[in-house]
Amino acid sequence: MSEKSFPQGFLWGGATAANQCEGAYNVDGRGLANVDVMPHGPERWAVGMGDRKMLSFEDGYYYPAQTGIDMYHHYKEDITLFAEMGFKTYRLSIAWTRIFPHGDEIEPNEAGLRFYEDLFRECKKHGIEPLVTITHFDCPIHLIKEYGGWRSRKLIEFYKRLVTVLFTRYKGLVKYWLTFNEINMILHLPFMGAGLVFSEGENKQAVEYLAAHHELVASAWATKIAHEIDSKIMIGCMLAAGTYYPYSCRPEDVREAQICNQDNYFFVDVQSRGAYPHYALKKLERLGINIGITEEDRAILAENTVDFISFSYYSTRCVAGAGSEVENTVGNAFIGTKNPYLKETQWGWAVDPLGFRITLNDMYDRYQKPLFVVENGLGAQDVVEEDGSVNDDYRIQYLRDHIAAMRDAVIEDGVELLGYTTWGPIDLVSAGTGEMSKRYGFIYVDRDDAGAGTLARSKKKSFAWYKKVIASNGADLG
Ligand code: BG6
Repeated sequence: MSEKSFPQGFLWGGATAANQCEGAYNVDGRGLANVDVMPHGPERWAVGMGDRKMLSFEDGYYYPAQTGIDMYHHYKEDITLFAEMGFKTYRLSIAWTRIFPHGDEIEPNEAGLRFYEDLFRECKKHGIEPLVTITHFDCPIHLIKEYGGWRSRKLIEFYKRLVTVLFTRYKGLVKYWLTFNEINMILHLPFMGAGLVFSEGENKQAVEYLAAHHELVASAWATKIAHEIDSKIMIGCMLAAGTYYPYSCRPEDVREAQICNQDNYFFVDVQSRGAYPHYALKKLERLGINIGITEEDRAILAENTVDFISFSYYSTRCVAGAGSEVENTVGNAFIGTKNPYLKETQWGWAVDPLGFRITLNDMYDRYQKPLFVVENGLGAQDVVEEDGSVNDDYRIQYLRDHIAAMRDAVIEDGVELLGYTTWGPIDLVSAGTGEMSKRYGFIYVDRDDAGAGTLARSKKKSFAWYKKVIASNGADLG
């Protein structure tokens, strides 16, 4: 064992989300979800924000989630390729509407339950531990139309029903569960994150915090139910992380960064510490927002904190206080100030491997619970050479730098880390843009932004590289 390798049992792998890869949106009784009706093209953003109401397929639009990369029918082939890379874990999400097509039924859909059972068994066959996100942005359309999405407290009950079915059915098959993907996305893309659409003049922030409260309570209930059904289950929360840097050491900039960090950590503060933090309660009071916290909510939150903390990391963020002359930028739906010290990807996301080490340290210092990095990677345009190869050295470089920084956090700084799953080990539909051409994979999928292509899978150069990284337990990043 090299002194540069990660701890024994470190869980290397990759992560996907149902709506971005499964396709088969109307197969085996599946219902429709918010994420299905997000079109490719210029209106996607307004729909994701809840400003443009689109609750069904409309003529003249292309909806990439309908087919994804058809993993529903290719999962055996895909898991075999993951196994060839040496994956120890595979993070995937359940499509809520495969289990409860409308969301509020009493009885689950057996065909949906069977699909995931087969998939988990396939993983196990290859020695891969499934890591399952219960909801990765998806909310049944029926729950949006009927109840207004997560703004309704009723969704807590429907979610409890969902998790009870999942934990019971997959007992012994799945140990690691995440309650909500990037729960903080509610504040940035509220329709995509929580099925929220707004009416004219509505106080959006009030609705977002109300929905966030319902998700936080639902998440604590899930933790309770999981531990009652199987004491071996480990429940994690999931944050779109990335430390906010102050643009300069000017106190106004530092204070702004502190506020933004608190706004972001707020969710994990509740899920990991079990209570609303002082600064959040004050903020809600100042804004005149009443989220209706009950005594029962308080008790459930306090008694059911998460076992570990997972997060996605793509970059740090940078902010300036009033009075600074700065240029703005957007990375993964987070608006901030352009950091002049960092390069950006083709989609304008800042690249900051050292910031990864900083974020890991910040989170571990704050929570003192095991961490799990469940997303990290580079979305880039790939070129297929005449012989079919894809020489994605830029992706290797990005991942090499980030894994090295993560290794420093673990080995030099003592951060406790359970594992690392790269985002999109196989090319899939981009959540932010709906494009296929924003590729993250080690495995290329022949499909373009308009939905054309054979869906054939092939290995990129990074495939062999990641295989070597895993085989050496992170010691060989060459
Ligand atoms: C995260 C999401 O925000 O970022 C994923 O959890 C998403 O669903 C990933 O795909 C990368 O973002 P994008 O917009 O490049 O797909």
